[in-house]
Amino acid sequence: MGQNEPLLSIQHVTKEFYGNVVLRDVCFDLREGEILGLVGENGAGKTTLMSICFGMPVIAETGGFQGSISVDGQETHFSNPFDALDAGLGMVHQEFSLIPGFTTTENIVLNRESMNPSVLNNVFGDRMSVLDRKAMRARAESAISKLGVKLDPDMLVSEMPVGHKQFTEIAREISRSKTKVLILDEPRSPTGSSSSATAVSSRM
Ligand SMILES: Nc1ncnc2c1ncn2[C@@H]1O[C@H](COP(=O)(O)OP(=O)(O)OP(=O)(O)O)[C@@H](O)[C@H]1O
Ligand SMILES: [Mg+2]
Repeated sequence: MGQNEPLLSIQHVTKEFYGNVVLRDVCFDLREGEILGLVGENGAGKTTLMSICFGMPVIAETGGFQGSISVDGQETHFSNPFDALDAGLGMVHQEFSLIPGFTTTENIVLNRESMNPSVLNNVFGDRMSVLDRKAMRARAESAISKLGVKLDPDMLVSEMPVGHKQFTEIAREISRSKTKVLILDEPRSPTGSSSSATAVSSRM
């Protein structure tokens, strides 16, 4: 990748929902180390644009979009968010996607848990591995300290103040080793306040 090649490039993106045009010919580039803020009133189309970048199913289900999205110079055709994660995008959604009955640590490493093999592996295979809680906690603590905030790794999400939930979501995204571009869709206003901003930042 060249020094000046954008990490994320949005070119001529137009999106309509059943004839209602919500994005018209949107273009922008994001380069390594940049933070870009998108500001717009409620309904301006911020979430829609970020959903297009991240391959959210709602976009395909409502007729797709026009224009192109490239990551690291490669045009993307994500059919779902897992493809976007694989390509190095992370997204913190406007609505929470944490599991309330799990702790900070469990939510941060969810689906990427550290495992220890057990003797039962020989007979029953990898499914009998046990969670390596020490390693999981260390990974969660490393992501939390990268963020520079104070979070209790053992607190249940259901018992957290709202700000801590938001940081937990961000920690989960930056703890993925592949993440190059992080999309934050109004991470400070999950209840839909009147001031709206969405940020896209790269390689934190
Ligand atoms: N699934 C959908 N079907 C039909 N219309 C939709 C859908 N999702 C969004 N819209 C419409 O698209 C427009 C842009 O919505 P979007 O949620 O992207 O705005 P936003 O800038 O994120 O707003 P907010 O600040 O309230 O989060 C709105 O008019 C909304 O009603
Ligand atoms: Mg929104």
